[in-house]
Amino acid sequence: MSTRGKPRILLMHYILDPGPAILAEAGEVVPYPPDRPLDEASIRQAAEGCTGIVSQLMDPIRETVLSTPGLKIVSNVAVGFDNIDVAAATANKVMVTNTPGVLDDATADFAFTLLMTTARRVVEADAFTRSGQFRGWEIDMMLGADVFGATLGLIGVGRIGRGVAHRAKGFNMRVLYYDPNPLPPDAEQQLGATRVDLGRLLAESDFVSVHVPLTQETHHLLSTPQYGQMKKTAILINTSRGPVVDEAALVEALNAKKIAGAGLDVYEREPAVHPGLVVLPNVVLAPHIASATTRTRSEMSAMAARNMATAVRGGRPPNLVNPEVKR
Ligand code: DGY
Repeated sequence: MSTRGKPRILLMHYILDPGPAILAEAGEVVPYPPDRPLDEASIRQAAEGCTGIVSQLMDPIRETVLSTPGLKIVSNVAVGFDNIDVAAATANKVMVTNTPGVLDDATADFAFTLLMTTARRVVEADAFTRSGQFRGWEIDMMLGADVFGATLGLIGVGRIGRGVAHRAKGFNMRVLYYDPNPLPPDAEQQLGATRVDLGRLLAESDFVSVHVPLTQETHHLLSTPQYGQMKKTAILINTSRGPVVDEAALVEALNAKKIAGAGLDVYEREPAVHPGLVVLPNVVLAPHIASATTRTRSEMSAMAARNMATAVRGGRPPNLVNPEVKR
């Protein structure tokens, strides 16, 4: 609580309208000093006396932070919350919220954008054209991979994976999926998606797109053995979390031509990108922008602010990740 009796809310980073107004109405907003490092000890120091923290995916919110006396809620401005130790939050009776749903379409659009861009070598073609190398049409210039009618393998069919499957229908793609939780039969039928094991998905897909959260089980889900199972012509797309993909092994697989290319929005050690990826022309690299449309980022900001406002007023925020804290 602040001296004026309003709950103090630590805002780790700038958020978009209408988020700031919602937060200002709910409490006293304390911006995290922009020049302070994002380590646990520094965040803990800034969180002293705060009831809530509005965090983003680059903020390590672990035991050191979660044990801050008086802390009631961490509202993450993201659907993923692997930056937060939820078990430690629950043990400290701290609510954790996220922003599900509002970013599904933007993220699915972007997964498809990466798929198309990588398949048809758009980034290479743009650089080629800008640099004045285009001297006229050539029969074998910038040959790429067909998308229409190809096989798409989805690893994970939560909301975003299903969104990608939906888009794939328009491209007449055969859709395979791997997920421990099968889709209901009517959803499978509607999306034209067939559940298979990971080995078959990797062996048969022209494009493999990853849509799973980062957990202990999904860490390095794709590594050397899995790349070895993929078609030599296959393209890997990752818009989920970097560490799901073993990046060093991916560089090796690309260099050894075990697979044909990759379109990546996320990295193992963001913002660092494996130097072996940067030099490869058959890889498209984006700076974690899959949800970055004006509307989506604004809705994420609003949703995170509303989660915070509800919690500091004593309510149960709608997007509670650890409901056992607030029965
Ligand atoms: C998320 O929400 O988890 C994305 O990675 C950022 O939009």
